[in-house]
Amino acid sequence: MEPVLAGPNVSGRGIDPECDGVGPIRLALVGAGQRGIHAYGSFALRHPGLARFVAVAEPDAARLGLFATAHGISKECAFADWRTLITRSDGIDAVVIASPDREHYEPAVAALEHGYPILVEKPISNQLSEVLDLFHRVRDPADVTVAHSQRYTPFFATIKTLIDEGRIGELVTIDHHENVAYFHFAHSYVRGNWRRTDQSSPFILAKASHDLDLIRWLADAPCTSVASVGRLSHFRPSNAPTGAPLRCLDGCPARDTCPFFAPDYYLNEPPGWTLRSAVTEDPAPNAIVDALRTGPYGRCVYHCDNDVTDHQSTALGFANGVSATFTVAGLSADGTRTIKLLGGRGDIRGHMAKGEIEVRTFNANGRPSTELIRVFADGDHGGGDDRMMGSFLSRLVERRGGLPFRESETSLDVSIDSHTMAFAAEESRINGATFDPRRYL
Ligand SMILES: NC(=O)c1ccc[n+]([C@@H]2O[C@H](COP(=O)([O-])OP(=O)(O)OC[C@H]3O[C@@H](n4cnc5c(N)ncnc54)[C@H](O)[C@@H]3O)[C@@H](O)[C@H]2O)c1
Repeated sequence: MEPVLAGPNVSGRGIDPECDGVGPIRLALVGAGQRGIHAYGSFALRHPGLARFVAVAEPDAARLGLFATAHGISKECAFADWRTLITRSDGIDAVVIASPDREHYEPAVAALEHGYPILVEKPISNQLSEVLDLFHRVRDPADVTVAHSQRYTPFFATIKTLIDEGRIGELVTIDHHENVAYFHFAHSYVRGNWRRTDQSSPFILAKASHDLDLIRWLADAPCTSVASVGRLSHFRPSNAPTGAPLRCLDGCPARDTCPFFAPDYYLNEPPGWTLRSAVTEDPAPNAIVDALRTGPYGRCVYHCDNDVTDHQSTALGFANGVSATFTVAGLSADGTRTIKLLGGRGDIRGHMAKGEIEVRTFNANGRPSTELIRVFADGDHGGGDDRMMGSFLSRLVERRGGLPFRESETSLDVSIDSHTMAFAAEESRINGATFDPRRYL
């Protein structure tokens, strides 16, 4: 019997889908890329009694075939186009949308119109108008779960509990950092799919809607003002090593010293990385070299067509008086989130990769009491992915069992705030003004 994984704030009412006589929750997937395979598909394969992908839509024939084979999906249920999936599939409990940012809205609307609840990747859309349209269109907030997986991590759930318990008194201010590792930034935001705002999303929406969601959650009040600065500073032609060609494999003179030399990333991928599969599905060295000679991931990071910022700092004010500062940047040696929260009776410092949360409470003698809490979480994204899926599936099991369909803690009604905050930050960054994100609603 597969356990129902309960997220930190999930009641997990313990209904076993194998006992309801119908079998695992039946899911359809839109977009069998990195997230579709490694977050959602992987969960179903590890928990076959709880969830099963029974249909998939993916325009890339190789990925479609790989996903269908791995999940035992017949040819009749493996589609190149999500429209066919939505209209032809029967007996689906929910649709998981893990296509690129700009390809979320239309399948989301179609799935909802067919009566399927959805788990949609963040950002909900790269267009504010589409986010708002979906927000106003949805009648039952339980129908849309946004994949703000960070909320489900034991690390941030612990911090939230500490604040709610009053361990540092009244929360006054938050200083949060999303430190994106330099190699991850180069892969995704300079060479890869999220390098251009017009093709994907502004950096703060693509990478940091999670963080804005966390800050909003921890502040526990609507955001009332956003001011932001940032630009693309480093990954520009003016910073290219002397004589660097357009592609790393075209005889770059800096090949031994440049930390962004592409072949080192993809031919000698360290354990745990999954970047190479974005370059080519074929792990053979010749195939990787071919892909680097012709594809986007072999380009010099200083000679790409990227335009998203590589650093952005945002100041936020909340209706209850809490303030926050937030920096997202792509030039960190390691990728992790770090946070500091200051309250009337103490402070909290957290380092996610180390799994460390330090709580210090003020004493009259000037020597604060310190407690170090270690948070261990297995699984990707700080353990958030699996717990998010566990929460989503638990709710679907309840629904199937005739119980009310509970709203997710990362429903669209909740996640609208992180998105309007991100759009407001981008507007502020470009236009140099302070915005109240509530004016979009
Ligand atoms: N929640 C998180 O922590 C998290 C982390 C990374 C990425 N994401 C988001 O997840 C989404 C997917 O990211 P990814 O890294 O898997 O990207 P990816 O490029 O690896 O995968 C996207 C897949 O969708 C397919 N696709 C393109 N157009 C499609 C369409 N019209 N219908 C169906 N499939 C289509 C592509 O061929 C590709 O296989 C993005 O929106 C991204 O921002 C979320």
